[in-house]
Amino acid sequence: MVVVDQEQRTEDAGAEMGSGQTVVVFGAYGHTGRFVVAELLERGYVPVLVGRDADRLRAFARTRPGLEARQASADDARSLDRALTGAEAVINCAGPFDATGGPVIEAALRAGIPYVDVAAEIEANLDTFAHYADRAREAGTLVLPAMAFYGGLGDLLATAAMGDWTTAEEVHIAYGLSSWHPTAGTLASGTVSSRRRGGRRLRYTGGRLRHHDDALPTLEWPFPAPLGPQPVIGEFTMADVVTVPSHLAVPEVRTYMSAVAAADLAAPDATTPTPVDDRGRSAQTFVVDVRVRSGDAERRAVASGQDIYAVSAPLAVEAVARILTGRTHRTTGVASAGALFDAPDFLRALPAQLKVEISS
Ligand SMILES: NC(=O)c1ccc[n+]([C@@H]2O[C@H](COP(=O)([O-])OP(=O)(O)OC[C@H]3O[C@@H](n4cnc5c(N)ncnc54)[C@H](OP(=O)(O)O)[C@@H]3O)[C@@H](O)[C@H]2O)c1
Repeated sequence: MVVVDQEQRTEDAGAEMGSGQTVVVFGAYGHTGRFVVAELLERGYVPVLVGRDADRLRAFARTRPGLEARQASADDARSLDRALTGAEAVINCAGPFDATGGPVIEAALRAGIPYVDVAAEIEANLDTFAHYADRAREAGTLVLPAMAFYGGLGDLLATAAMGDWTTAEEVHIAYGLSSWHPTAGTLASGTVSSRRRGGRRLRYTGGRLRHHDDALPTLEWPFPAPLGPQPVIGEFTMADVVTVPSHLAVPEVRTYMSAVAAADLAAPDATTPTPVDDRGRSAQTFVVDVRVRSGDAERRAVASGQDIYAVSAPLAVEAVARILTGRTHRTTGVASAGALFDAPDFLRALPAQLKVEISS
């Protein structure tokens, strides 16, 4: 088992400070956008704050003196072109991505800069792969969807756990969340995805995504200590069913959600996250337990930390840092995190808030 050394990781992150490069954050004043802006500043980048609502944008810009703010709307291509002018990369944090993904990717392709988003909408993630693989190759740039807690982290952990395996029979990704106070963006994205799949459910089996109407099972997942065994909802399908099979030869990919978090998410009176520390993180804790099976052999990678929204920021910004410094397996097209990066190296570079263990 490799336990990632936190002091080493902090040193590594410090050695790779962004050198004043400009990165646009679309949806900058949203909950996740704010974490991304703070992370970019900590890493030495210059964020450009972009959003559709001029008043909200102005109010947020007042909390970040010295940063440029540019109003832009997903339905106004010229405003997006102006927003991206002079930038080295764009991170799209504005969801539902069903509405923003296409237009912001188009603008990134026109500008010839890499595009990274935090989308956890399976249908929007699929659209990105389907519509932009060739276009991004032709434009000579990279498009990286789902570079966040859901979709990105699970993919990196599954890829790291695979080690030298080129195929596996099953990937299981279990989310052990202590609670889930969803943001408005999360709830809106869930509504859009549900509408797009006609209210049906999805599972990835037999090497492809299939709709179904089966009731979801509740089972017990043996999370490692200190969390220990917890009830989870099986086939609680998350964006990892797009990212993992996009590059790993695995016919079965299943995701599980702690029952307590699934109930929070579905509650009619769900409340938004409450900050409890000076980074603005909520008290929510998480464990992501990834198991890869081939025959009788199992390989595992586990990540734990605090606040799934906050931790999406170092994931997205580390991705941008690697793209801008050429530390990628490819330089054009659409790719998920696991396909694009050296997964164990990426996970080692994450800040000390994320504890990672890989056993393969
Ligand atoms: N993959 C993951 O693990 C992960 C992690 C974090 C977030 N996310 C996703 O990221 C998205 C944002 O989440 P959040 O927590 O930041 O939610 P939030 O606090 O509600 O913020 C949503 C942001 O998106 C903007 N927005 C929404 N629709 C827009 C449109 N059509 N054009 C331009 N801007 C638009 C909002 O602007 P207005 O206020 O003007 O509407 C706001 O700035 C959600 O889809 C969420 O699921 C995914």
